[in-house]
Amino acid sequence: MEIDGHTKLVAIFGDPVEHTLSPAIHNAAFKSLGLDLAYVPFHVRPSDLKTAVASIKALGMAGVNVTIPHKEKVMRFLDDIDHLAKEVGAVNTVVNKKGRLVGYNTDGVGYLLSLREDTGFVAGGKKVMILGAGGASRAIFYAVLEAKPKSVVISNRTLKRANDLAGEFRRIFRKAEIRTVPFEKNLLSEEAAETDLLINTTSLGMMNQGRLDFPVESLPKGSVVSDIVYRPLATELLKKARRRGLKTHDGLSMLVRQGAIGFELWTGKKAPLELMRKAALKALGLKNAR
Ligand SMILES: NC(=O)c1ccc[n+]([C@@H]2O[C@H](COP(=O)([O-])OP(=O)(O)OC[C@H]3O[C@@H](n4cnc5c(N)ncnc54)[C@H](OP(=O)(O)O)[C@@H]3O)[C@@H](O)[C@H]2O)c1
Repeated sequence: MEIDGHTKLVAIFGDPVEHTLSPAIHNAAFKSLGLDLAYVPFHVRPSDLKTAVASIKALGMAGVNVTIPHKEKVMRFLDDIDHLAKEVGAVNTVVNKKGRLVGYNTDGVGYLLSLREDTGFVAGGKKVMILGAGGASRAIFYAVLEAKPKSVVISNRTLKRANDLAGEFRRIFRKAEIRTVPFEKNLLSEEAAETDLLINTTSLGMMNQGRLDFPVESLPKGSVVSDIVYRPLATELLKKARRRGLKTHDGLSMLVRQGAIGFELWTGKKAPLELMRKAALKALGLKNAR
């Protein structure tokens, strides 16, 4: 990539940020479309977030991605927030629109699009189980509810967090059937038998984060298993599901899809999805994942 006097910056703000695949994904896409943009990671500590957001305007950046732990706090420093991001309660993409900073959330929509592309699964009328009630869960849970599922069961180690999130979304989606269950294997097993789509949004299964002991054997034949963890790409959960012959959806598909929506918001151009996925796989040291 040639950096010249016209090059504009796009960045990701996170703490930590070293693990990010987004620079590899976006720089490959900018290059392939011949765009004069460069994507860089910035390690931004919470106490510096306000100054970092102000620098988007000061430096004339095209926009940024925002990741852990800034997705909620960043909202107070923006000029405008898209309706969906407001309801989800988190922003992961900021666009600099002629000096006005507008926040979006592309995680949930990116998740559902990639799920459909990989497995053909459409959440409308289906029974969905979500493990985890953190930041990623919030965006995915909201997107699933917008698709009008038959029911959603959410389980989390800290049950109160799941109850709070369920309560918040019941107020928005008044007709939705939402239940919470404790994060206990025997209870999860009972629920699994009635599940069309299982989504892991916890960090369990991620490198150095502990094992996810989910009773995959209780899921019905024909159900789909989705894991948003992407290090490793083939998590134990996905491997178990594949051994049972179930369809699976991995975390890299979501990462690339949500990134593609951000790319389109910054550039107004169609994102080269396949090329972005290849760049992400290369950054993970993998050649192929399907
Ligand atoms: N593929 C993608 O595009 C994408 C996007 C975003 C995130 N992610 C991945 O998704 C995962 C979660 O991210 P996040 O932003 O939602 O993080 P977060 O807000 O910190 O939430 C973490 C979730 O994991 C649960 N958890 C953590 N350790 C646990 C343990 N030992 N046992 C049971 N539950 C545990 C937490 O439960 P408690 O509430 O009880 O703490 C919480 O529900 C990470 O692995 C992240 O890399 C992937």
